[in-house]
Amino acid sequence: MGKIRVAIIGVGNCASSLVQGVEFYRHAPEDEFVPGLMHVRLGGYHIGDIEFSAAFDIDRTKVGKDLSEAIFAAPNNTYKFSDVPHLGVPVSRGMTHDGLGKYLKEIITKASGSTADVVGILKETRTDVVVSYLPVGSEMATKWYVEQILDAGCGFINCIPVFIAREEYWQKRFQERGLPMEAWLFRIAHNLVVDHLRRGSRFERADEDEAALPDFPDPAHIAEERLMMADVRAAMMRLTQDQRDVVSLRFFGGLSSKETADVLHTSDGAVREMQRAALEKMRGLLIP
Ligand SMILES: NC(=O)c1ccc[n+]([C@@H]2O[C@H](COP(=O)([O-])OP(=O)(O)OC[C@H]3O[C@@H](n4cnc5c(N)ncnc54)[C@H](O)[C@@H]3O)[C@@H](O)[C@H]2O)c1
Repeated sequence: MGKIRVAIIGVGNCASSLVQGVEFYRHAPEDEFVPGLMHVRLGGYHIGDIEFSAAFDIDRTKVGKDLSEAIFAAPNNTYKFSDVPHLGVPVSRGMTHDGLGKYLKEIITKASGSTADVVGILKETRTDVVVSYLPVGSEMATKWYVEQILDAGCGFINCIPVFIAREEYWQKRFQERGLPMEAWLFRIAHNLVVDHLRRGSRFERADEDEAALPDFPDPAHIAEERLMMADVRAAMMRLTQDQRDVVSLRFFGGLSSKETADVLHTSDGAVREMQRAALEKMRGLLIP
């Protein structure tokens, strides 16, 4: 099988973890349990088959640098667990739009210069898939990039809470071009929802916003987690669209209820109510 050429939009902390992770697991053995990796090989591809092809950001600390350096440039501050060799992938100047919100504006200085030819770069670099890690709230920027991705004929993985993959309009446009599109938010396989339900609370815990992923779970935990996740997904399909969005954003996206309310253009109270109703329904389905 060939390589999968991946471009990144938004070289922030998530991108740093992805790029480090691909390097860290590049030679992961296929016949052993590998902590932190659910699948060493997926759909025929080994994790080492991922190659980074292009990257886009707007921060002057990152634009123009090689991706291997940009992932460690301030204000990125995520944990460094792997060195990354020079990748030969310069970070190009993206399109700002609403990528810089009220708070990010205070810590990011935009790189000078005009927006790069995103379509041209994606085509020249033979990019297969574009992964978006834009900041929360970048609705216009996301839609702008999605248009470029469609023009360039690439697949798209949206890791941010702006709804694209669930919208019929975008589904149709990607399908018409025979291009894949996924919302990673919904696919993150961990059992936060089930853990939360099992704690048996009435879903009003003060620490609700602090939910965290377990570190390096053991193999049995991972196996159990995979089974649970299938159940969680099936249960989520029984929720209303609004309830599903709230559960995805809160538990898989790690957003607070206030952030979830902003993304869904509703109130904090409405989010809490939808979350309560959704979890009560899921509890009935998941915990006999
Ligand atoms: N799917 C998940 O599991 C998951 C988990 C955590 C975070 N997220 C989401 O991923 C996104 C990124 O999170 P993060 O922690 O890496 O954020 P971050 O703030 O560290 O990184 C965002 C990056 O995007 C850049 N950026 C801003 N506007 C841009 C534009 N218009 N074009 C190109 N680049 C632009 C910023 O300069 C920054 O480098 C968030 O939306 C977050 O909600 C998803």
